[in-house]
Amino acid sequence: MNNTNTKKIVILCSGEGSNLQAIIDYFNGYSDVEIACIISDKPSKSLERGIAHNIPTLYLPKLNHPRESYDQVLMAHINLYQPDLIILAGFMRILSAKFIQSYPKKILNIHPSLLPKYKGLNTHKRALENNDKIHGTTIHYVNEDLDGGEIIIQKSIKILESDNEKTLEEKVKVIEHQLYPKTIVSLLSSKH
Ligand code: GRF
Repeated sequence: MNNTNTKKIVILCSGEGSNLQAIIDYFNGYSDVEIACIISDKPSKSLERGIAHNIPTLYLPKLNHPRESYDQVLMAHINLYQPDLIILAGFMRILSAKFIQSYPKKILNIHPSLLPKYKGLNTHKRALENNDKIHGTTIHYVNEDLDGGEIIIQKSIKILESDNEKTLEEKVKVIEHQLYPKTIVSLLSSKH
């Protein structure tokens, strides 16, 4: 199944894992890209999804480790696979500077807002409170500025009068599920 051109990705998640599932489904039977490992810091649905698809899946709980020691262990696991990209898909931990600096232009995140608007949490609520007419998602490189790395691509949706936090979350996830796997392919194909 593996060929010499196969690109490897490692996916980090914490929760529901619907983006993870979209990526798994997209690359199922796709020999050019291998999901080398899935890592979750929480006992989440993400872990179940990885196991159900026979993908090496690791639960790495945070316990009481300081951030730097946790990230050292995380890096040791990731480095086993030498991935071309590290994909954050709902990974709810802030990564240390050491981690981020170790993988320049290799860490991607998807954030549920049209950055630079609404960095951080509760993006759907904040968009509604501000009476925004459009909302969306952003895929960006990760740097030390939280949700502030270089933007790769964005996609928007209209906010309707009838929308609430839940409907916005669902609508944003629908576009994320289309956008994330395609963006990963496009970035991987530019790496030789
Ligand atoms: C997504 O909306 C993503 O933008 C954000 O966290 C959410 C993760 O959802 N980073 P899921 O776990 O992929 O369902």
